[in-house]
Amino acid sequence: MEKLVINGGKPLKGEVAISGAKNAVVAIIPAVLLVNGVCKIENVPDISDVDSILKMVESLGAKVNKLDKNTVEIDCTSLKTYIADRDLALKMRASYYLMGALIGRFRKAVVPPPGGCNFGVRPIDQHIKGFEALGCVTDCAEGEVRIDAKKLHGSSVFFDVVSVGATINVMLAAALAPGKTIMENVAKEPHVVDLANFLNSMGANIKGAGTDVIKIEGVKELKGGTYTIIPDQIEAGTYMSAIIASRGDAVVKNVIPKHLDAITAKFVEMGVTVEEFDDSIRVAVEKPLKQINVKTLPYPGFPTDLQPQMLALLLTVDGQSVVSEGVWDSRFQYVEELKKLGADVFVQGKRAVIHGGNTLKGTDVVATDLRAGASMIIAGLIAEGKTKISDIRHIDRGYEHIVDKLKSLGADIERIDE
Ligand code: EPU
Repeated sequence: MEKLVINGGKPLKGEVAISGAKNAVVAIIPAVLLVNGVCKIENVPDISDVDSILKMVESLGAKVNKLDKNTVEIDCTSLKTYIADRDLALKMRASYYLMGALIGRFRKAVVPPPGGCNFGVRPIDQHIKGFEALGCVTDCAEGEVRIDAKKLHGSSVFFDVVSVGATINVMLAAALAPGKTIMENVAKEPHVVDLANFLNSMGANIKGAGTDVIKIEGVKELKGGTYTIIPDQIEAGTYMSAIIASRGDAVVKNVIPKHLDAITAKFVEMGVTVEEFDDSIRVAVEKPLKQINVKTLPYPGFPTDLQPQMLALLLTVDGQSVVSEGVWDSRFQYVEELKKLGADVFVQGKRAVIHGGNTLKGTDVVATDLRAGASMIIAGLIAEGKTKISDIRHIDRGYEHIVDKLKSLGADIERIDE
């Protein structure tokens, strides 16, 4: 079993380049199923979630050609089935995007329930509500979602909760639905906008992505083309948190600084030096840091996918900080692992109270999910001695070449097979 071994205590210095956004590419690859032609996708991160979603579209009949490590060509001219592979779908959350894409392409879809990280209950009622508003008939019995979309048409959908997944899925289903669709109370994350930009560049007519209301005029067909995925805002925030936690000074390159506003604002509040350039950000610790309180919220609020990394960073800051989780019901399970390193954190429901400033001591910990894994890495970088992280397949789902990137910043980290 592969593990990461970190010898903590080295300040991270230099520069690191950010890869394409995981949560954009796992939506855009299924979106290619709507295109009657060949799409070339650039800046695709080399991560296992991408391998899984590519296998899924291949199993539906798409021809996938990896031109290099970060460029893939997908030809969906002759798909063969609207039934998604069960084992592949159970591996990841984003398999649910096959529903929206297959509805548009085949007017039919059979997709097993999605897998992914476990943050408590992860319902898909808003996806189903959206599909039904567009005229689909859905049946969620027998461990799979069966959708009949013969009568697919544009319509109005007002979401009860702001959901990234439901916004993306209904956008996928509506792109080729005859008539006008108006989606209200939608998610505004950069990856929602990236999907709309991808679909528009292939011929769709989608307006308003990035605001609370998305308006879609269904088109008859989408044509192939080339598209470049945006940089990963969460990967960028993870490296910034690691650099700050290690009391380093480094430049994070290939980012869209605007997408990081909620994150950099918190770093500035802590007393971190933050310098923004056109497509890079320097973070450095030049004076003692102050405690802060953080609440996660849908974009443009502070992202839940950086909550575990921020909590690890706050372990290095004297005083009491409070982190409140505003998106998921149960996203503090990983704190038990941090406690093994000596972290002083008290969790009560959706709130964690952190008493920072204690010295952490390296030991064996488990990456309980993707971002929890990133949090363990940050904790390992600041702990005295050796930290060994197991279950790193979760980390490999979403972080491209993380060992090489951290090493280039001066971290003492190795991947071992034990
Ligand atoms: N929700 C419902 N009903 C639904 C859908 C969602 O009640 O039909 C609730 C959820 O229970 C949650 C909230 O709405 O409380 C937000 O969930 P959302 O649908 O936005 O999450 P998601 O689409 O399943 C994506 C990311 C997650 C990220 C969340 C929130 C992907 C593949 N996943 O999940 O990313 O935490 O948005 O930003 O895009 C990660 O990358 O580590 C990750 C978990």
